[in-house]
Amino acid sequence: MTTQEFDSIVANARDAFATARTPAELENAKAQYVGKSGRITELMKGLAALSVEDKKTRGAAINQAKQAIEAALNARRQALADAELEAQLKAEALDVSLPGRVREPGGLHPVSLTLERIEQIFASMGFDVADGPEVESDWHSFTSLNNPPNHPARSMQDTFYVDIDGDDGIPYNLRPHTSPMQVRYAHQHIKRYADGVKRGETMPEIRVIAPGRTYRVDSDATHSPMFHQVEGLWIDEDISFADLKGVYLNFVRAFFETDDLQVRFRPSYFPFTEPSAEIDIAFGSGPLNGRWLEVSGAGQVHPTVLRNMGLDPDRYIGFAFGSGLERLTMLRYGINDLRLFYEGDLRFLKQFN
Ligand code: DAH
Repeated sequence: MTTQEFDSIVANARDAFATARTPAELENAKAQYVGKSGRITELMKGLAALSVEDKKTRGAAINQAKQAIEAALNARRQALADAELEAQLKAEALDVSLPGRVREPGGLHPVSLTLERIEQIFASMGFDVADGPEVESDWHSFTSLNNPPNHPARSMQDTFYVDIDGDDGIPYNLRPHTSPMQVRYAHQHIKRYADGVKRGETMPEIRVIAPGRTYRVDSDATHSPMFHQVEGLWIDEDISFADLKGVYLNFVRAFFETDDLQVRFRPSYFPFTEPSAEIDIAFGSGPLNGRWLEVSGAGQVHPTVLRNMGLDPDRYIGFAFGSGLERLTMLRYGINDLRLFYEGDLRFLKQFN
């Protein structure tokens, strides 16, 4: 073999390595030259048949070619490894100029803030706080509250029904108000003190609020199919409308953080109260100065409702109210569209925290 022939083997090997685009392709190309049956390996095997003198010169030439090929192979290996690393670094590059992914502290929804505030204020006036089911029986939502099936007053509280019938064969409903909690709580209260009453003790008065979600078939700028109310109930042996009025006045003054606020009771109708009233408030200053704003229904608990609670209407007298939490929240913060509460827009929600 001539020197040119060795040179051309080396040149071919270099070309083959240069065209290999991946480590696997490179190893394939390598096999053709320095692998088990590669070009150089074959030449080495051929040395055995030569004379000692020829072995020396031929062997030295083969070795030189082999070293050149291995050098080219290693250089290409390195180049491919470098390229791979480069590509990986590029793919996984961090853009340090991007804003970090911070964990922002969350905040309470304005209606939740109102709910907590109301619980604190009423707790400070000695009221218990109760919670109850949102999927309610027909009896609790309506009939127990002196609003039997087919009573026209039911249309004031058109709600949603679920596909499950109660014991009375009437479907369960999504409670249209928190008022069913009046009867539920009264039953719990009576049960709690039953043993004491048997021993001749007097049952303590009922003083409770029950805030929570309520539902109605209603949707516009001031009504949402899901909204919140707080129910208030006070039952004792010797209380009057004046007590209800005092409590409610204290509540709104604390809630709105001003004593410059009037309350008025306006005659109204609810099946579960007699007489019934709407509670209006008027601020003595600010943007709503002097305007009467309706914030609650209220009234003296109807004798039929007291009986359904298991109480004797000749002995007990009760006063109740039900106020909308969205309405109170809107007045407190000057919000003009109820739908803002439920759009989940952070630009709105962030303003309360
Ligand atoms: N439940 C009534 C409603 O949703 C509000 C209400 C009125 C509650 C008078 C009361 C009450 O407890 O006494 O419109």
